[in-house]
Amino acid sequence: MGIQISPSMLAADFANLAAEAERVSHADWLHVDVMDNHFVPNLTLGLPVVEALAKATSIPLDCHLMIENPDRWAPGYVEAGAQSVTFHVEAATAPVRLARELRRMGARAGMGLRPATSIEPYEDLLPELDMLLVMTVEPGFGGQSFLEMCLPKIKRTRELIAKHGLDLWLQVDGGITPDTIEQCVQAGADVFVAGSAVYKADDPDAMIESLRKQAEAALPPR
Ligand code: DX5
Ligand code: ZN
Repeated sequence: MGIQISPSMLAADFANLAAEAERVSHADWLHVDVMDNHFVPNLTLGLPVVEALAKATSIPLDCHLMIENPDRWAPGYVEAGAQSVTFHVEAATAPVRLARELRRMGARAGMGLRPATSIEPYEDLLPELDMLLVMTVEPGFGGQSFLEMCLPKIKRTRELIAKHGLDLWLQVDGGITPDTIEQCVQAGADVFVAGSAVYKADDPDAMIESLRKQAEAALPPR
């Protein structure tokens, strides 16, 4: 697929989500952060808002569920219109069953790891997924600083993807800016979530194109 940019609506104006989606028409995905104030110490939005947003935009929704009990709630986000649904492995009871259910319903299945969660215990699970999300900040808030300690994990994940010959997207989320995106590309990421960097820019679409070009230029020769 190459490089993809998924602006996070967490940094958008929540009173005008449909209009905010139009400001990022060059996005490959719209990243929607769902927080329940249990898995993370913050509360954002849920199913009714995702359902309304899906009707208001033609950009596919990339729902990032920072919630407890995703086994119970994640399938509802496919019904609400999300094309990609990412649950956190730390919160899931039966990640294999859940990933299969999301795929069966026609969505891309994503699994997220907090900064302190290793990829190695989940090597055998990778073929069940369409996307692996390596968080590059502690989930919960936008505008935090990128954690460099996550770079080796991105690299090891990319090596596991290659080892198994998988078509698995590798997403990074948190502190992605013009200053940090190249290190992530070099480590092996290919889907970039950016909240503040895109929505706080004067021209969000121009920032998306600029991040995309910067990432493409940093791609290692394969
Ligand atoms: C944080 C969220 C991110 C957040 C990123 O828990 O998962 O998607 O919006 O925001 P920035 O890009 O500002 O770090
Ligand atoms: Zn996110």
